[in-house]
Amino acid sequence: MLVSLMFFYALLPLFWAVAKAHLFQFEIISNASTYYFNYVYCNIWEGECQPNQDDATQQVPTKNPWAGFPQDYMSLLSQWYCSLGQCCESGDCRITNNITGLANDLQFKLHGQHIAQSVVLKAVQGFVNDPDSNKPLTLSFHGWSGTGKNFVARIVADNLYRDGVKSECVRLFIAPFHFPHARLVDTYKGQLREAIRDMVLRCPQTLFIFDEAEKLHPGLIDAIKPYMDHYDNVDGVSYRRAVFLFLSNIGGATINDVALDFWHSGQNREDIGMEDLEHRLRAEAMESEGGFAQSELMSGHLIDFFVPFLPLEYRHVKLCARDAYSARGLEPDEETLDEVAKAMLYVPKEERLFSSQGCKSIPQRINFFLP
Ligand SMILES: *[C@@H]1O[C@H](CO)[C@@H](O)[C@H](O)[C@H]1NC(C)=O
Ligand SMILES: *[C@@H]1O[C@H](CO)[C@@H](O)[C@H](O)[C@H]1NC(C)=O
Repeated sequence: MLVSLMFFYALLPLFWAVAKAHLFQFEIISNASTYYFNYVYCNIWEGECQPNQDDATQQVPTKNPWAGFPQDYMSLLSQWYCSLGQCCESGDCRITNNITGLANDLQFKLHGQHIAQSVVLKAVQGFVNDPDSNKPLTLSFHGWSGTGKNFVARIVADNLYRDGVKSECVRLFIAPFHFPHARLVDTYKGQLREAIRDMVLRCPQTLFIFDEAEKLHPGLIDAIKPYMDHYDNVDGVSYRRAVFLFLSNIGGATINDVALDFWHSGQNREDIGMEDLEHRLRAEAMESEGGFAQSELMSGHLIDFFVPFLPLEYRHVKLCARDAYSARGLEPDEETLDEVAKAMLYVPKEERLFSSQGCKSIPQRINFFLP
């Protein structure tokens, strides 16, 4: 915003030069250029300018000196400015916060995850609609690999940011990749703190994704904890618009047990609720090894929502396969989809109910089945 303002002030001499053809008194010119500046400014950030509250509009001379000024010229100027990618309703073009898109994607692209669907939507929507929230949004995704944790993180990024996961407002940390050596944890701490601070300074609504969070060293969790707490600011920087996503397999076994129990008792998978899981999820987390599970993040109240990802069944794998085909512009028949789904391994041994890899690598797998 500040940069945009400076940018326009730098252009003012140009406006003046043009204006001189129409005006002869400097006083008028100077009043008018303020007016013109605000005119263009309001045109570009419609919705941010309330014409009647605006200082400049009160100064508009009764006889508008711009009456003879070609309107086309102004719209050309704002078009040119917008073409630079600097002109958006939100004021920050990198941020789209498209809740409709998020709801759509969660409903149609994600399979077999009714809890994640509703919890993620509610959490993100609530956060986006409440600019005064007093803490960053912190979500913890739990479940087996291939159940869609990364997929949902990507969906969130795609809908909150113009450039999705490639946005300069999105940062992915993969614990074993970015922080591989326990002995370097002190170095990592400093690096991580600095990275988080830098990102938030450049983009207040930054999305931080910690993949394989179960492998994060306890020291690293301690290092980032203050950013997730209810502080107005940490060393002068406010983190309240940031979003933290933790992806882990902690609690995966519990989630699977609950899903299996439901199946055994003939209940609908879609009737599994948060209340069936949250308590056991916390309990399993406390018992499991590793920094993330043991940390105060799990026991304290820094995590806003635990999001369980259920193990996927045969029918869900088929849906994933269909998506993978249609992403390539193909429309496979049921038979082909069955073939793909049958090629996955299903557990537990007796029931053979859940795909052990979920929908992981389905897009690669369909290569084998292409004609
Ligand atoms: C320019 O603005 C000043 C202060 O707002 C006002 O007193 C003056 O009359 C204006 N001049 C013209 C020519 O509109
Ligand atoms: C939001 O997402 C929907 C569905 O993906 C799309 O049709 C719509 O154009 C998007 N809106 C904005 C403002 O980007």
